[in-house]
Amino acid sequence: MDVYEALYTTRAMRRVRPDPIPPEVQARILDAAVRAPSGGNAQNWRFVLVDDPAARSALGPLYRQCIDQLWATIYKARVESARADPDLPESRATLAMVASVEHAADHFAGYPLFLFAFHRGDTTGGSIYPAVWSAMLAARAEGVGSSLTTVLAFKGDAVPDLLGVPRDQGWKMAACVPLGYPTGAWGVARRRPAHEVAYRNSWGAPVGFEINQPLWPSQD
Ligand SMILES: Cc1cc2nc3c(=O)[nH]c(=O)nc-3n(C[C@H](O)[C@H](O)[C@H](O)COP(=O)(O)O)c2cc1C
Repeated sequence: MDVYEALYTTRAMRRVRPDPIPPEVQARILDAAVRAPSGGNAQNWRFVLVDDPAARSALGPLYRQCIDQLWATIYKARVESARADPDLPESRATLAMVASVEHAADHFAGYPLFLFAFHRGDTTGGSIYPAVWSAMLAARAEGVGSSLTTVLAFKGDAVPDLLGVPRDQGWKMAACVPLGYPTGAWGVARRRPAHEVAYRNSWGAPVGFEINQPLWPSQD
């Protein structure tokens, strides 16, 4: 797959089939992930793949509680304002995201595979996400959908304890990536155009180009 296709079309794919992901596909995803950069090449990361039915069943209610907490706190005002004016483009995007996240929360135990990422001793916190994103890009190349989630952190040690993470070695859970073969079609991720969020030389100065349509696929 063209690298740009992977970059443009790797977006949150939360609706998936329960079909298992073959071990050789899982191996390619993880082998790609550990090529990612980390500060000082410390590779202070660990990954836990979870496909055990009992562990997946235990994760389901925990995830649902975290999502309910999310709606009741951080996202409360944004969701209320989207529901109050549902026809605005930004409201539509918010409500579509809510529906997608709700689907994931309702079916969490049904994901065939989860990739948990842990890190330690990383003062910036930035060293784990390149590997997580590489795993998601590799999954995309394999036709496997993914979504990056962090909300299980609301549960403190509950998930690390479930996964047998030693408590005394400083490992912190950075992300949980549910994986599965998507039921829907891949599409280009919708984002604010680069020229609206980028400047040149000085904050607020025009970056020097306007990109009103995604540059992939090429229009030539
Ligand atoms: C740091 C981070 C944390 C996230 N946490 C969650 C999460 O807990 N649950 C979830 O469903 N999505 C989570 N997401 C996914 C975002 O909701 C998603 O990337 C965003 O809505 C864009 O979706 P799209 O790629 O489908 O356009 C997270 C993304 C990032 C980068």
